[in-house]
Amino acid sequence: MAESGPLTRFSVSMGATLLQRFDQFNRARGYRCRSEAIRDLIRDELVEQDWQASDEEVAGSITLLYHHHVKGLGENLTALQHRHHGLVLSTMHLHLDHDHCLEVLVLKGPAARVRELADRLLSIKGVIHSRLTVTSTGGRIA
Ligand code: NI
Repeated sequence: MAESGPLTRFSVSMGATLLQRFDQFNRARGYRCRSEAIRDLIRDELVEQDWQASDEEVAGSITLLYHHHVKGLGENLTALQHRHHGLVLSTMHLHLDHDHCLEVLVLKGPAARVRELADRLLSIKGVIHSRLTVTSTGGRIA
């Protein structure tokens, strides 16, 4: 993500063990300098804070893993998505194996409503795992 305005340099103190782990993390992620890694981590955290604390518009995705054979589950998931059609931009369904389905929903809307839909999808019987990932739709974090 591009920076807006001049960069300010500041120093960070941390213990050797944490720094070693941070450098391993950076190498694994392909970061060539710590500054860029720190900026990305801070942005991630600010996006998370922003959307959880407000009714700001967010974009995001929900990844659902569920049992294919649970009676009525597919219909329940589809019905819930129809009730929130204003939030759901797109869905992708993959038949992972004989017993499991993976569904990815792409969403845009007020943070609180996106969160609520994610929670309700997870609470449906037969949903094994659900992960909500959100990002900002605007320039507040550049
Ligand atoms: Ni399927």
